[in-house]
Amino acid sequence: MAFEFGDTRLTLLINAGMSILGFLLCLSVIPKFKDMFIKANLYGIDLCKPTKERIPEALGVICGAVFLILMFLFIPVPFYKHLADNEKGKFPHQEYIEFLAAVLSICCMIFLGFADDVLDLKWRHKLLLPTMASLPLLMVYFVNVGSTTIIVPKPLRLLLGYDVNLGILYYVYMGMLAVFCTNAINILSGINGLEVGQSWIIAFSVIVHNLMELSGEYRHHHVFSMYFLMPFLAVCSALLYYNWYPSQVFVGDTFCYFSGMTFAVVAIIGHFSKTMLLFFIPQVANFIYSIPQLFKFIPCPRHRLPRYNHETDKVEISYTKFKEKDLGFIGKMFLKLYRVCFVLHFKTGVGEDSEFTECNNFTLINLILRFIGPLHEKTLVIILLIFQVFCSIIALLIRYQLSRLFYDS
Ligand code: UD1
Ligand code: MG
Repeated sequence: MAFEFGDTRLTLLINAGMSILGFLLCLSVIPKFKDMFIKANLYGIDLCKPTKERIPEALGVICGAVFLILMFLFIPVPFYKHLADNEKGKFPHQEYIEFLAAVLSICCMIFLGFADDVLDLKWRHKLLLPTMASLPLLMVYFVNVGSTTIIVPKPLRLLLGYDVNLGILYYVYMGMLAVFCTNAINILSGINGLEVGQSWIIAFSVIVHNLMELSGEYRHHHVFSMYFLMPFLAVCSALLYYNWYPSQVFVGDTFCYFSGMTFAVVAIIGHFSKTMLLFFIPQVANFIYSIPQLFKFIPCPRHRLPRYNHETDKVEISYTKFKEKDLGFIGKMFLKLYRVCFVLHFKTGVGEDSEFTECNNFTLINLILRFIGPLHEKTLVIILLIFQVFCSIIALLIRYQLSRLFYDS
């Protein structure tokens, strides 16, 4: 029989209560740290505002710290029965270690994210950091679970059989999941409230999924996920309050890493990485669309966020400028492909010698602006978040209806 975390209803209730306290704590401490962060040179300029006011950056670290405090205090709660019995040999060491490794991975990521905010690391580091931070978790997975076998979807069973053992590839996949979740949130950003807003909706959607699975066979995985996601949702709510338009604080890469790693951790331990990726549909779309710039086939400026128009107080498409003849073969192919698919706003013969070409930066935000036209920043973030909610509903429909076509249950 699978391990049960004490009396689940009681422990979930305690977790929810602690989350509310965490929310209130974040709400009260974030404003107190604003000046301290500015003094420490941790600030950014809101590029979509007429004023050049300094906005404290990396406040995600406060939420991360409160989250960790909550998790540390919560550690004994799911194991209270075993701690009280104190019977030798009965303590569920495996689950305990999973719990600690999950907290350790998130903790590492908060630390590395903060280092990124302070030191402004290069992109190659951004890929390496989540891989490093996921190692404790992968190690525990190797020792505790060890299974690297996946069930093959029905249409492929004639070809591959009922299941396939992926071996080391399974660990590579899980490491890549951590890299993807952290960076995908970080690159769908740049307008007030977007990073936290999308994380809030994903966390809420995953909790809905967990609740729907509470009576199922893998109940303990979903209870585990809720232990992490309820405090996360709470600290996120407080941060969103201050980061919402017009932002009083910026969340920094610390928050994006913290958030992405929390999702990766619960998906890995909870064995629902495919479902988790379904909740990342907008981020996956933004990542795929961004590939030519992320891999430098097309020049990628430091910031790809929309351009602010002082006269209209709206945000517009932002552009990247280059000479077409300087592009490599792959860059030219991407340009052609995107033009054929009508997902590119394109101007040729730009610049003094008319040799330059301008096209929009390849982000979902710019794509929306390309189809709808210039928007007020707050309207734009609301549209993006409504899209995220819509995708979560689609994800739940795929998970609970369409998946029957591919899997037995
Ligand atoms: C990622 C994106 C970059 C985007 C940036 C903004 C890629 C490859 N990188 O870079 O295109 O411009 O995030 O988040 O896609 N800012 C605002 N308003 C906001 C949030 C941020 O103006 O609501 C600006 C501020 O100047 C802030 C800065 O963005 O200081 C933070 O950027 P940073 O997180 O350092 O950028 P990256 O994560 O490297
Ligand atoms: Mg960032």
